[in-house]
Amino acid sequence: MLHSAVLNVMIKAAHRAGRSLKRDLGEVEQLQVSLKGPGNFVTAADRRAEEIVREELSKARPAYVFLGEEGGVREGSDKTHRWIVDPLDGTTNFLHGIPHFAVSIALERNGVIVAGLTYNPANDELFVAERGKGAFLNNQRIRVAARRRLDDAIVGCGLPHYGRGDLRLACHEIIAAQQSFAGLRRYGSAALDLAWVAAGRLDAYWERDLSPWDMAAGLLLVREAGGFASDLGGGEAIFAKCEIAAGNETMHRELIRLLREAGKQASVQAATA
Ligand code: IPD
Ligand code: CA
Ligand code: CA
Repeated sequence: MLHSAVLNVMIKAAHRAGRSLKRDLGEVEQLQVSLKGPGNFVTAADRRAEEIVREELSKARPAYVFLGEEGGVREGSDKTHRWIVDPLDGTTNFLHGIPHFAVSIALERNGVIVAGLTYNPANDELFVAERGKGAFLNNQRIRVAARRRLDDAIVGCGLPHYGRGDLRLACHEIIAAQQSFAGLRRYGSAALDLAWVAAGRLDAYWERDLSPWDMAAGLLLVREAGGFASDLGGGEAIFAKCEIAAGNETMHRELIRLLREAGKQASVQAATA
């Protein structure tokens, strides 16, 4: 399949950063058993990967604004274009030597995501999408799953990090989801969770407290794969509310309904506590 020039630039950047991360994963595996642990090494690996991505992207499009998780915003003279980059999504997995993490890159034009990719260097899976051109995994067209029955569905989610987020609400949501869907999964990479919805591996996915770089590429992948992605109220404010729900039309609608009910129950319980 033929990619646009800009997507080729993104792919080259992801492959280079991915090679660096894959090399570093070998080192992380060794460090598991050392007393020092892999913490500082992982921080350096993360920054190194972002630098590689930034270097490649800005070589090809020097005027674009760059937003990266590690380095924040680097202004550019062309304010209509912005790269949104997570150089290492799934840091906790990486830190533990779990080969489920990704480089994720999106291009936003006038506030709309027009190209996105998520690359897992550990198994060499590359998910790409361009607006209006479909979504692909290693050059094969992908579609969201067609399942309609909730009790057949496998659904991905996030959980609040230790000491953060609303654990009570999360518990209500998990109970509601567990009572309706066949099973839940918490894989630890939002970018890959969305890519896996696009590829039909997960039937749906939701998470709160995310950042634009966790979701930007993935929301385009899901939509280009024929799925739906929205904030948890079903609206467009994904970045503003820092949350996302995704799935095929039925799963997405049912997931949102279920989360709304869980939210009501959590507030009732909080009021009576
Ligand atoms: C995290 C992962 C994780 C999600 C977190 C994100 P990071 O990104 O996507 O799955 O639950 O909320 O922050 O820190 O590994 O880039
Ligand atoms: Ca992330
Ligand atoms: Ca990250």
